[in-house]
Amino acid sequence: MTMYDYLVVGSGLFGSTFAYEAAKRGKRIKVIEKRSHIGGNVYTEKVQDINVHKYGAHIFHTNNKEIWDYVNQFAEFNRYTNSPIANYKSEIYNLPFNMNTFNKLWGVVTPEAAKKKIEEQKNVLAGKTPVNLEEQAIALIGTDIYQKLIKGYTEKQWGRKATELPPFIIKRLPVRFTYDNNYFNDKYQGIPIGGYTQIIEKMLSSELIDVEVSTDFFNRKEEYMNEFPKIIYSGMIDQFFDYSLGTLEYRSLKFESKILDRENYQGNAVVNYTDAETPYTRIIEHKHFEFGNQKKTVVTKEYPSTWNKGDEPYYPLNDKRNNELYQQYKDLASKFPNVIFGGRLGMYKYFDMHQIIGAALATVKQEF
Ligand code: FDA
Repeated sequence: MTMYDYLVVGSGLFGSTFAYEAAKRGKRIKVIEKRSHIGGNVYTEKVQDINVHKYGAHIFHTNNKEIWDYVNQFAEFNRYTNSPIANYKSEIYNLPFNMNTFNKLWGVVTPEAAKKKIEEQKNVLAGKTPVNLEEQAIALIGTDIYQKLIKGYTEKQWGRKATELPPFIIKRLPVRFTYDNNYFNDKYQGIPIGGYTQIIEKMLSSELIDVEVSTDFFNRKEEYMNEFPKIIYSGMIDQFFDYSLGTLEYRSLKFESKILDRENYQGNAVVNYTDAETPYTRIIEHKHFEFGNQKKTVVTKEYPSTWNKGDEPYYPLNDKRNNELYQQYKDLASKFPNVIFGGRLGMYKYFDMHQIIGAALATVKQEF
């Protein structure tokens, strides 16, 4: 038997929050992580003195003061406000869709004029119930915005034509009739000054926590299951059961990063490429998350890609088939009371960072 109370599989925000809270309660924890570093997808690394978001842009935002205070104990956050822009064939538009966007598109100045224009354009559907994503988008926002800012981006994201995608993918669209480019409606948002990795480092810094990176749970699954009284598992739930009921599907991403010998490449942290021809969906310029003035810059192109077993599973494909399969795995998991399945991979659901911290704290509450 081991000296540890818990084995935590995965050092992302879920596993690390749990480990931190368990150590605070005097428990001994071993954390294993298959990557060569801790932090999961929020990991940031310094390149040219710039904190690079290695697994995609991460902006912390929440309406929950408790979660905001909680995460602020591990890092100081800056005043970053997410205001992405869209580049459609070199025309630049503000996001989310707001009065700045409408003014640039149609020259309208007042909210009334913008609403009138959108209503006119929605009429092409003549009240028909949308049967695919294209019709759904037009029913919500009209033809111009759909054609320039939604169609190409969405088709690249999903790897399918908008007419072949189900309408429920876009239930709502962020539309604002004010001149406000702040993407999120949340009360609190920002970026940790110095990056996210420090948060995870602090969470795992207790003497009661031992961390082993480059260690895959599946290399010693049987031993771990016998040795540890309790396991917090934040890897893929279907992999835990050796895919015995079938494989859950994801969308993946490929990142292509470059150091550029110039101070400022695109003037904004996030630029979405909304035409169909540009193969990537976004370019991230990392220094702008922290208002950096380094001499060089680091940019990352983000390419959506099909997920095959072994690729990084970024976005769960929560369609009917996968949700039903997940439910079957969840039922199977309930037969293993000493394994807690958590995090985005263990629960097969997209979670923002504040939600995953909330989910980990809820697990802690149940456990102690
Ligand atoms: P996470 O994936 O981070 O951690 C799981 C860990 O388990 C990984 O490190 C993995 O290597 C490890 N692991 C898996 N299997 C293992 C095994 N067999 N053995 C050992 N280790 C194993 N949220 C937000 O609030 N604002 C944002 O802007 C963004 N942006 C964003 C962009 C992109 C591209 C994505 C994909 C996601 C976001 N998010 C986000 C969401 C955010 O990334 C997410 O909430 C957290 O990373 C989830 O933390 P977890 O611990 O659940 O998973």
